[in-house]
Amino acid sequence: MSGAFIVVEGGEASGKSTLIRHLLAHFQAHGRAAIGTREPGGSAGAEAIRRLFLADGDGAGVWSAHEAVALLSAARANHLRVTIEPAIAAGAIVLCDRFYLSTMIYQSVLGGAARDYVEAMHQWVCGGRQPDLTLLLDLAPEAAMARLRLRGHENRFDRMDLAAHARVRAAFLDFAAQSEGRMKRLDASEAPEQVAAAALAELAAFGLAPT
Ligand SMILES: Nc1ncnc2c1ncn2[C@@H]1O[C@H](COP(=O)(O)OP(=O)(O)O)[C@@H](O)[C@H]1O
Ligand SMILES: [Mg+2]
Repeated sequence: MSGAFIVVEGGEASGKSTLIRHLLAHFQAHGRAAIGTREPGGSAGAEAIRRLFLADGDGAGVWSAHEAVALLSAARANHLRVTIEPAIAAGAIVLCDRFYLSTMIYQSVLGGAARDYVEAMHQWVCGGRQPDLTLLLDLAPEAAMARLRLRGHENRFDRMDLAAHARVRAAFLDFAAQSEGRMKRLDASEAPEQVAAAALAELAAFGLAPT
């Protein structure tokens, strides 16, 4: 079977990691080669950059948004070269937790880096690589914040205020509306099993879900 590059996007605590776990279990149960990976990270070099990136701690501002785009793009290139492209070439479905669109939203829409710069950087550093399909986990900001309080905070992005969560959500929906079918919105307020079933239905429509 041929491989595929599937990205899961959405705000903090929208259920990306949970969905990827469910999908991997489904693919494994059906004997379909699949891997789960994440950004920033997913390869040794990119994980090293992740540590640098998150070393910003409480957001005191080690990295400007502009600098963060360069760091994240370098990490993404390494991740693509070392992990993602070889897995796809070997016929696996790659399920990636966040990708380029997260950089566009967090560093450009929220962080103020110029959109042209983010796009140009992606073109130069990552060949403009886009996923075959993006699953967008859409969740109301109040619900996301309630989950974060339950889960506990993992990094500085988890401490964003309600307005920032709302801007991230709106930006993801804008990109989905302009994606010409390459992004599928999922209602992330449903139970995890239902979110996974909806995701599998989208993947099946794409010819990718073993049943
Ligand atoms: N569909 C869901 N309904 C309710 N809670 C969920 C759902 N999906 C995930 N959670 C919980 O919300 C928190 C964040 O989920 P997680 O998968 O870690 O999100 P993300 O990876 O997008 O940050 C976790 O505590 C998780 O158990
Ligand atoms: Mg996660």
